[in-house]
Amino acid sequence: MANWLEFWENNEINWHSDVVTQELEEYLGLLKLEPSDKVFFPLCGKSLDMIYMLNQGFSIIGVELSEIGIKQFFHENELDFTITQVDEFDLYSAKNIEIYCGDFFSLSPKHLCDVKAVFDRKSLIALDQNLRQKYVKHLNDIISLGVRVLLIILHYPQHQMSGPPFSVQKSEVESLFSMAFKYQELKSFQDIENRSKLMNAGVDYIENAAYCLQKVRE
Ligand SMILES: C[S@@+](CC[C@H](N)C(=O)[O-])C[C@H]1O[C@@H](n2cnc3c(N)ncnc32)[C@H](O)[C@@H]1O
Repeated sequence: MANWLEFWENNEINWHSDVVTQELEEYLGLLKLEPSDKVFFPLCGKSLDMIYMLNQGFSIIGVELSEIGIKQFFHENELDFTITQVDEFDLYSAKNIEIYCGDFFSLSPKHLCDVKAVFDRKSLIALDQNLRQKYVKHLNDIISLGVRVLLIILHYPQHQMSGPPFSVQKSEVESLFSMAFKYQELKSFQDIENRSKLMNAGVDYIENAAYCLQKVRE
């Protein structure tokens, strides 16, 4: 299993992008958010997509294992923060943003009170196949009915490189989510930005796909 804390300690964070995810800008409207609605970023790292959403007037909740990553996020974006203890988490808070430092799988619905949408980029695909099913089940357990999810996955010949990031097939998205979510594939696209590990591995192809999902069943 990936040792995420070690990646952060060694600054091996080549998944981090210095630009906002284009598909978030492109498909934000599909999330049907009202001003100041709360958006959840699972396995958030120090993603600048959170800053983009803050600047659009939304509130953010994130969860991230690494204290280093969270502190870098607040320092690099010049946000003053406080730390409080909430259950087993350290909760880092600034205006309109809260990031739980700890394990996604320890979150419960009370931690995501009022969340209206989820943005998952490089979160599902950060997990190996055994964990992906557990991740989707847990996500389903902690969000409310009606919540929409904007999901971006990555697909490449898995036998040519070991993850993370892991390759997720479209058929897997369907089998993971179809029990409780209605879903729509938005587009497939090529994205070589920040994919040096994949490029170095010389994989035959890299394809991304974006989905809009909505929780419609418990
Ligand atoms: C590939 S990175 C992606 C980060 C972010 N989504 C982005 O787009 O930059 C995956 C992140 O998930 C965090 N992570 C992995 N497992 C986790 C878990 N069980 N709970 C919380 N965070 C986790 C890692 O520390 C890492 O920062």
